[in-house]
Amino acid sequence: MKFLAPWVCIASLTIFGAAQAADAAKPVVQVQMQTKVNPMGLALWDITNPAIGDDGNLDPKKITAAQWARLLEIGKALEESGRTLATTGGVIAALPGAKLQDEGTAAAASKAADVQRFLDAKPAVFRTHALALQKTGASVVTAATRKDLKILSDVSNGLDEVCEKCHVIFWYPQLAKR
Ligand code: HEC
Repeated sequence: MKFLAPWVCIASLTIFGAAQAADAAKPVVQVQMQTKVNPMGLALWDITNPAIGDDGNLDPKKITAAQWARLLEIGKALEESGRTLATTGGVIAALPGAKLQDEGTAAAASKAADVQRFLDAKPAVFRTHALALQKTGASVVTAATRKDLKILSDVSNGLDEVCEKCHVIFWYPQLAKR
């Protein structure tokens, strides 16, 4: 046994290492949310909300050339994030030890392990919603490329729902059932 022990140890290290390497390739939902999806969503609304004119429609005079250029970047980032999350290889809820937003302050808030369970239970459904995000990003790109207010308005009004539809299944389904 004395002789075997180090080998057992090395073997398990190797397996652990391989599992880590495989996981490292999987997109982390929280990282995507915090670094891309959320800031890009907010940046989009920061441009479109103040551009709404008295008649309730987007006013072309209220969107500058720089903002159209920014919208193009926002669209690309949302599209890329959607594509990343739409992977067939599985996603990770959060990095080890990370706390989710609201965890600890709201009793009913999900923890990363909860979200991971929701994700693992319905990977195809998650993918559908990630593809919706990708498509939305692509529409922002189209709107920005053509300076098309109709598309921008639709996408700006509908983005919230794209976020919410995924969150209610994979972030806080316990709240939806009430
Ligand atoms: C494909 C599914 C999906 C879409 C689409 C999506 N999210 Fe999320 N989001 C999640 C999941 C799952 C969590 C829970 C894990 C977590 O907290 O990161 C989450 C968490 C978050 C969080 C909390 C991050 C934290 O610190 O824990 C924010 C903020 C967020 N999303 C914003 C957005 C916004 C804004 C949009 C739309 C522009 C959006 N999300 C679209 C799946 C999605």
